[in-house]
Parts: sequence; C-alpha cells; structure tokens
Amino acid sequence: MKAYHPPEPFRIKMVEPIRLTAREERERAIERAGYNVFALLAEDVFIDLLTDSGTGAMSQAQWAAMMQGDESYAGARSFQRLSAAMDEILGFRFFVPTHQGRAAENILCSLFIKPGTYVPSNMHFDTTDANIRARGGQPVNLVIDEARDPQSRHPFKGNLDIQKLRAFIAAHGPDKTPMGMITITNNAGGGQPVSMENLRQVSQTYKEFGIPFFIDACRFAENAYFIKLREPGYAQKTTLEIAREVFALADGATMSAKKDAIVNIGGFLAMNSPTLYQQACNELILREGFPTYGGLAGRDLDAIATGLREGLDEDYLAYRLGQTAYLAESLLAQQIPIIEPAGGHAVYLDAHRLFPHIPSAEFPGQALAVELYRQGGIRAVEIGSVMFAHPDPATGKMVHPDLELVRLAIPRRVYTQSHLDFVVKTLTEIAARRDQIHGYRFTYAPEFLRHFTARFEPVGDSVRI
Ligand code: F0G
Repeated sequence: MKAYHPPEPFRIKMVEPIRLTAREERERAIERAGYNVFALLAEDVFIDLLTDSGTGAMSQAQWAAMMQGDESYAGARSFQRLSAAMDEILGFRFFVPTHQGRAAENILCSLFIKPGTYVPSNMHFDTTDANIRARGGQPVNLVIDEARDPQSRHPFKGNLDIQKLRAFIAAHGPDKTPMGMITITNNAGGGQPVSMENLRQVSQTYKEFGIPFFIDACRFAENAYFIKLREPGYAQKTTLEIAREVFALADGATMSAKKDAIVNIGGFLAMNSPTLYQQACNELILREGFPTYGGLAGRDLDAIATGLREGLDEDYLAYRLGQTAYLAESLLAQQIPIIEPAGGHAVYLDAHRLFPHIPSAEFPGQALAVELYRQGGIRAVEIGSVMFAHPDPATGKMVHPDLELVRLAIPRRVYTQSHLDFVVKTLTEIAARRDQIHGYRFTYAPEFLRHFTARFEPVGDSVRI
C-alpha cells in the first residue's frame, strides 16, 4: 500500500524558485566542492535537506508580527509579547532571549560546568557536547539500548535509561554532576521522541540527588505530538497541555527557536531560579545583549512569540510528522534502509546497509551524500565516520561509529509531497546501481569538526559513470 501523505494545512502565497541544474553542472559543482556538500552553493542545490534549523517558512501571521517589532533597546513591547507566549507554553519564571540555541547552551554551561564534572543526557547534540567540553566538563549519553538498533520500532526510542542514570550518579557522585539534561526529540539519535513517563522518572531521579534538570527543547512540539499519538492517557490532551506538563518537570530549558518555533534565527534560556536568572543576565549582557532583546531584533522576538504557538498547532503537527513518516515508509517500500521508525524532523538513511561493499574507512555515508547530489541535486548531511571516526589514543587504530548514516532533514512548511517523491525516486535510482558506487578518501581534513571543511577524492575510477 502506498504511504499516506496528509494534505498540507496551508497554501502557498509566496514562492522561491529552485532549479535542478544539468547533470554535468552538478558533476562540476561537487568536484569543485571537494566532494563535500557543505562547500556547494545553495543556488546549485535543488532540494536542500541539510538541516531543519532556521530553514522553515514563516507564516503570514509571523511576517505580520514582524512588522509590529518594537526595536527599543530596553523593555520593548516585542519582549512583552514573547514573555506572554513563554508563560503560556513553557511556564518557567524567567527567560533570556539568545541569538540561537548554542548561545543559550554557552551561558548555561558557564553557570554550571567546572572542569572534571559530568552532564548526563539521553544524547547531547554536538553543540551542547562541545559547550560542555569547552568548559572542561564531560557530556554523558545514556539513551536506552534500543536507540542503537536501526530496526527497533520502540515508540520512544529517545528515552533515557534510568538504570544507567542511577548507576552513573552512584558511581561518580551527585557533587560531580552539576546539572542533568535531556534532548527532546533526540536529534543525535534519529529525531526519536521521549515519553512523558520517562521524563517524569528522569526529573524524579535528578531531584532525588539535588541535580538541576534542564531540557534541550528544540523540538518540544514534535515531541508533544508523539506523546499524544503514542502514550496511553494523552490522546485527549492538547499539545499545549502536554508541553506544559513536560516543562513543569524541569528547572529550566534551552531552545534553538530555529526548530519548533519556525523562525530563521533565535533561541532562549529559561529557568525558575531567581539567582540563576541574575547570573544569566550578567553573562548575557557581556556576550549577547540586554536581557529584553538578547542579541536579536525586536521583530525576531515577535516572530518567535507567534511561531511558538503555531509550532504546537495540531493540524500542522499531524501534517509535519505525517510528512516525515510518508518519506520513511515510501523509502522502505523501495527497500531503501533507514532508521526505523521515522523521527520527527528527519529520516536517517542507513548507508552501511545500502552500500555494504563500501568499508567504513571509505565513508559509505559520504558516498551516499555525494550520490544524492549527483543524481538529484539533493543535499543531505553525512552522520558517520566523516563526522565521528577518531583514532584510539592507546593504539592509534581508527574507531568507527556503530552507524553510517545520512540525515534527510525536512525544513518546516517548505517542501511538498512531490518534492519528497522526487527524493524517493532519486534514492531508488541510486540503489539500482549501488554496485558501481565507490567510497571516498580525504585529501584534507582538519582535526576537529572535520565534516564542515574536509575535502575528498573518489576511491577508484568507476565512481565516474
Ligand atoms: N540542540 C539540538 C537538539 C539541536 O538540534 C541544535 C541544532 C542545537 C541544540 C543548537 O542550536 O543551531 O540554534 O545553535 N541543530 C541543527 C541541526 C544545527 O542541523 O540539527 P543552534
């Protein structure tokens, strides 16, 4: 049976032209880019699935709200309107706006992390991971084991393993754990949701040991809708009620508003503690801006206020999660291996299973990302050995990650069903000639975060077919 795609609950009022360039142009562009899609020009890309961050389409209500932006340095009406939305949805006592998610993480880490301390989570996103390490702390990922099995259809594969958490705190001591986190949905683990029950247990465990609990809330609305769909007792609750119940379990939250608040830039750090708020304001003034704008324009605050409410709209969320599931099920119908079930914001292709003949040392995920561009002008990101392989400090041998993935992230309200059908068709064509596809090797790689700037060359000639 063909997968079902719910009709978009919007119609299109403004369009941005995109173009599928000729095959020869794409061959030249990807070669010029050193076979790294980050070095491509956006105008040479047809369907851009590099990220769902800041790439969404704002609504007419958001654009109208931007026109009301109050650009006063202090006490702007835009800030009051954002405060009202924050009270209504998150319910924390205080918040400061920031220019994006990682700025909120930086402030949070500056207040809590001392060298030699630990921060547990289900899985930290890489900016959170890096911010903790930058202060001498150690991020700890304690997601349930099912998350590492690409074919396990656990309904809440983003859950944090409570036994592992308790064992970790017992082994290292609560005084070495200045804060605890959880990421909803779990981006680094396939965009999978966390259940309310798990959030309750995580909150209770942190509380028991006196550890402040912060939620990385980038995709809280998608997580709320997964809870409504999958968790007993929540079908009749609104996503707003579910979101409020989630946030009531925590001491604060960080958020990149570029995700579920559907804006192009912005974020915030929210908390209940007045002392912490005071300290956050001091950090903010030093690095971001005055606490009523935090490095954003007044109009950006209005766009976030409107977007936070729109992101929770249930017709939108049914379409949003339906769209991702449609892409996932359509790919499975063509025997394209993916991480199952579909995440909220993205589908993750399993390059290991698609290209079993390409060893990890020759980057099967990178080969797939390059083929997506060569075949269909589609841009997606490798999440595998290019991003994560590292030499073992003891033996010098390369350690490869368990999974070689390529993430197809879906921008919000941007692409239609026919775009997704084109992605499925392109991948089907790639799979049909998989035997002719070879791997890649580095010609340049920096020491850290190498996926952004590395350059490659094909291994073997038959890659040029
Ligand atoms: N936390 C999560 C779970 C994220 O997915 C991101 C960004 C951040 C924090 C940082 O937010 O970019 O506003 O500073 N994720 C993007 C992505 C970049 O492509 O997944 P930021």
